[in-house]
Formats: sequence, C-alpha cells, structure tokens
Amino acid sequence: MISLNGRKGLVVGGSTGIGRAIADAWSQAGMDVQVLSRSQPTNQNKLRWSAVDLADQASAHSALKEAIREPLHAVCFAAVHYGERRTMFTDTPLSQWRQQLEVNLNGLWLTLSTTLPLLRKARPGLFLNVSSEVVFNGGPGRAGYAATKAACASLLDSICQEEDPDEVRLISVLPAGMVDSPGIRRRRPSDFDYATYMRPDSFGPVAVELAMKTGIQHNGDSLVVSGDGDWRSVRNSLPTSQSDRRRK
Ligand SMILES: NC(=O)c1ccc[n+]([C@@H]2O[C@H](COP(=O)([O-])OP(=O)(O)OC[C@H]3O[C@@H](n4cnc5c(N)ncnc54)[C@H](OP(=O)(O)O)[C@@H]3O)[C@@H](O)[C@H]2O)c1
Repeated sequence: MISLNGRKGLVVGGSTGIGRAIADAWSQAGMDVQVLSRSQPTNQNKLRWSAVDLADQASAHSALKEAIREPLHAVCFAAVHYGERRTMFTDTPLSQWRQQLEVNLNGLWLTLSTTLPLLRKARPGLFLNVSSEVVFNGGPGRAGYAATKAACASLLDSICQEEDPDEVRLISVLPAGMVDSPGIRRRRPSDFDYATYMRPDSFGPVAVELAMKTGIQHNGDSLVVSGDGDWRSVRNSLPTSQSDRRRK
C-alpha cells in the first residue's frame, strides 16, 4: 500500500480538473495537501484551501507566501487561463493574452520562486508542472495558450539545470489527449460528446508514484499520461496534436 503519510503538498490550480485530481490522489495516499485557487474546491474532503488570484499581481505573491508552510515536499502547478474559446491571433484581445501571461506563465514563476527554497529543504522535493502537447505542436486558434505553455517548459528546463537533483526535481506531466475538465467544458457546446476525452483522475497514479519516489529517474522530463493512467517520456515519442480548426 502506497503511503505519503507525513508529506506536505501544495497544488496551485487544484480546485478543478487535472489539478484537483492530483490533489485528491496525493491526499488519498496520505499527503497533507493545500489547494490554492480563486474558488473553494467542492466536496473538499481533507484538502485545505486558500484563495489566490494569479491574475492579480498585487495580491498573488503575498497570498502564495502566506499560504505556504514548512515542511513542503511536493508542489503541483496546474492553474490555467485558456480564454473563452479558440480564437485566431488577430481576433484575440490583448486582455486575453495578458490574462494567459499572468495565470499560465507568471503564476508558474511566482509558484516556483516561492516554493523552491522550501522544496530544496525536503532533499529532495518534487515540483510537478501540468504541461500540454501544445509545447511541441503549435496550432491554429491557440497561439497565446501555446506560447505561454512553451515558455513554461523553457523556464522549467533552465531551472532544472540550475537545481541540484539531490535537493529538488522538476517534472512535467501532460495528457495524451483532451481531458474532460470544467475549463474545457466552458468552451464547448452543451451537447458536446466527451466520449473520447480522458478523465482528470488518469493523472492520479503518475502523481502518486512521482511523489513516492520524488521523481527519481524522471528529473527534467515531460511524461505523457494516457487515459488508462499509464505514462511515457516525450523523449520516446512526441504527443499528438489536439489542434483542430473545428473546435472553438
Ligand atoms: N483539459 C485538457 O484537455 C488539457 C490538455 C492539455 C493540458 N492541460 C493542462 O492541464 C492543466 C489543468 O487544466 P484543466 O483543463 O484541468 O483546467 P481547469 O479544470 O479549468 O482548472 C484550472 C485550475 O486553474 C485555476 N485557475 C484559473 N484561473 C486562476 C487564477 N486567476 N488564479 C488562480 N487559479 C486559477 C482554477 O481554479 P479557480 O477557477 O477556482 O481559480 C482551476 O483550479 C493546465 O495546465 C492545462 O494547460 C489540459
């Protein structure tokens, strides 16, 4: 029986979707998990929660610092601003681009800068980023999302080369296909068929195993997670593009 008893974790963007599934999986395996998001998670169970709005620069940094406590063993960053729907670049308002930068990229930066000093003390701590196939496949109607996710991957790649792997390991996980999450549902018609979509809880097994083994053998890697919970490195094969002009 896997146990993360005695470990403390933080999930930024853990109120819904993939972040929530990772928070639940860690919590069910015994970790004491704190979620940060704008809205309180429903059916919170053992999760602790603090409010943070990553789009509000003035308050986000202090809210993060306030919420984080020692010891800290594992951090997941899953917050995202997709935008209302897929939009061609010249139709995209500046406000959407700025929101994507604030939440997706600056939110990751703030989370890293606040938590890395504590994760190092865990020797080793785990930083788990939720990434996307858009890092490897640009696509129409999603330039801002793709650019911010690619910048996140680049940021993590550089930091990973700065950090001592005996102190902290940085790993990304990304879905092999589309995932049925509240953020995606907001962009689909009410009669949309999600039969081919993955479920967020596919991320539970990989998140627990990485936390158990603190990411040994996967430091710096991006792991593509399948609907059955299995995973593989992007170094073996690149993920399939989910870009489709028909999806708005
Ligand atoms: N779903 C997919 O098909 C898919 C595919 C590839 C990659 N991903 C990646 O998976 C991750 C999670 O996506 P998801 O689809 O599961 O998303 P989701 O259900 O929309 O969840 C997004 C999370 O981000 C939080 N969030 C959004 N804006 C925020 C803000 N301003 N401040 C603080 N928290 C904020 C949300 O909480 P509040 O609303 O309560 O603030 C929520 O907890 C993202 O990194 C995404 O790029 C998803």
